[in-house]
Amino acid sequence: MKKISYLVSGRGSNFKAIAESIKSGFISAENGVVISNVDGVKAFDTARSLGIPYFFVNPKSYSSKEEYEAEICSILRSHSTDLICAAGYMRIISTYLINEFRNRIMNIHPALLPSFPGLHAQKQAIDYGVKIAGCTVHFVDEGTDTGPVILQSAVDVSDDDTEESLSAKILREEHKVYPLAVKYFCEDRIIIHDRKISIRQN
Ligand code: GAR
Repeated sequence: MKKISYLVSGRGSNFKAIAESIKSGFISAENGVVISNVDGVKAFDTARSLGIPYFFVNPKSYSSKEEYEAEICSILRSHSTDLICAAGYMRIISTYLINEFRNRIMNIHPALLPSFPGLHAQKQAIDYGVKIAGCTVHFVDEGTDTGPVILQSAVDVSDDDTEESLSAKILREEHKVYPLAVKYFCEDRIIIHDRKISIRQN
C-alpha cells in the first residue's frame, strides 16, 4: 500500500480532503506525514485530529535550501513516503527534492495552467476577465507550475465574482480533483509520455 505525505503552509483543506479520502477508503493508501514550513498552522490541527504525524521544519534554521530540503527528505523517507502532495505549500520546491522524488510530487494550482501560474492565480483570472477558470493538479518539475498536467477542472466566472467568491468556487473543485489524482496514482493508472499524461482506464 502506498504512503502519501503532505507539504503545507497553512489552512490545509486540500490535505484534509485527500487524508479523509484515504480514511474513508476512496483512496487505497496510507497517510504518511505532514510537513509545514510555518509553525502552528491549521493543517496541524487537522493532522492531530486524524492521527497523522506532523512536523514544522523551519527554513531559517538551515544555511541553504538544499540542507532544508534534505531534512524534509529525511522525514519523508523515515515515513516511507511514495507520493508527496504539495497542498498550499508556498515555497518553490527545488531540484534537490524533485530529483529525490521525480514524478512523485504533485501540486494543486488554482488556475487552468498554463494560464495564471504563480501567486494570486484567482485574482489574475478576475483581473484578466476570463469567463472560465479552474484548477490543475500537476507533477512538480523545475519550473513554476510547469509540470505535466494530471487533471483539471473548470468553473464558470460570473460578472459579479470577486477574488474571494471565485477562490471558493475553485476550492470546491480542488477538493474533488486532487483526491482523484492521488487515487489514480495509487492505482498505478497515471501514464507519463514526456510531458503528456494519460489515465489508464480500469
Ligand atoms: C489552494 O487554493 C491551492 O490551490 C493554492 O493555495 C490554496 C491552499 O489551500 N495553492 C497555490 O496557490 C499554489 N501556487 P489549502 O491550504 O486549504 O489546501
